Amino acid sequence: MRRESPAPLGHARERGATGGATAVAHPNIALIKYWGKRDEQLVLPRVDSLSMTLDVFPTTTRIRLAPGAGHDEVTLDGRPAGGEALRRVVAFLDLVRERAGLAHRAVVDSENTVPTGAGLASSASGFAALALAAAAAYGLDLDATALSRLARRGSGSASRSVFGDFAVWHAGPASGTAAEADLGSHAEPVPVGDLDAALVIAVVDAGPKTVSSREAMRRTVDTSPLYESWAVSSRGDLTEMRAALLAGDIEAVGEIAERNALGMHATMLAARPAVRYLSPATLTVLDGVLRLRRDGVPAYATMDAGPNVKVLCRRTDADRVARTVRDAVPGGSVLVAGPGPGARLLHGDDR
Ligand code: PMV
Repeated sequence: MRRESPAPLGHARERGATGGATAVAHPNIALIKYWGKRDEQLVLPRVDSLSMTLDVFPTTTRIRLAPGAGHDEVTLDGRPAGGEALRRVVAFLDLVRERAGLAHRAVVDSENTVPTGAGLASSASGFAALALAAAAAYGLDLDATALSRLARRGSGSASRSVFGDFAVWHAGPASGTAAEADLGSHAEPVPVGDLDAALVIAVVDAGPKTVSSREAMRRTVDTSPLYESWAVSSRGDLTEMRAALLAGDIEAVGEIAERNALGMHATMLAARPAVRYLSPATLTVLDGVLRLRRDGVPAYATMDAGPNVKVLCRRTDADRVARTVRDAVPGGSVLVAGPGPGARLLHGDDR
């Protein structure tokens, strides 16, 4: 493809701004969940979390600085963004502009490859790609850790999509200044043994969620009597999860992931009023997962802020797991994902 010439930037060019950049990032699925913020403004979580970045559904985001323009222009999947989606992107760009000391507005064009209405969150891949592209365009010189910190401000889970394979997102120090907390809250890669993991993704409902994860987290932290005990047990889950990953022990990884996710949903069910993302179809898939285990196939489920189920298993069992899941929810769609790459910039011919 043709290399694009960057927008003219005057003095900004001398500070390292490229004027335009394209980045790609993949979604991630948490095996130890992020649920609950201790600071909404800085997006500081209450607990550490750990995820696998996927090798499917990349988001590609292109940004071009538009000196002289009066506002940002944001296109998501070919349509002009508005409302809350636009507000979040503009707020994120404001943060980048403030750090870069550069006021230029931008033209942002972002494409998700999640099949339309697949019902899978794209905020992790979206903000990881936007953070990388915007940092390059505005001339912020960030290493992966700093990029993860920045992506966190767009969407918490995006901090983990900066890295490939398995990543842990540190909550950061609970006491100290805001600057110290911000500095300590970023993701980093997690060492993994011979795991050969796959996630079978069962999309049982492609509709939009009824309660945003932001609102659901807030309500859970504020009102659920189960929240604190889950947060405490999640710390133990993380320690055990790291050991299980290092040992390449898929059974232990799956057991810990499943109990952590079910515990997170229990905290929501106990919130006032309750937040319930799990649907009858979710439970039908969970029954299928139990049957697989009874038949000797290590398969374990995890669910996020929606009814869809991701089943962790060995790559060699993935076809069988996918068949079981497909039979359980004939109307749903099923696909197999493996560990994927971290966020990267595209240059010239890659675009
Ligand atoms: O980053 P957000 O605001 O989309 O929150 C994601 C929260 C969960 O997906 C439910 C769990 C997680 O760790 O990804």
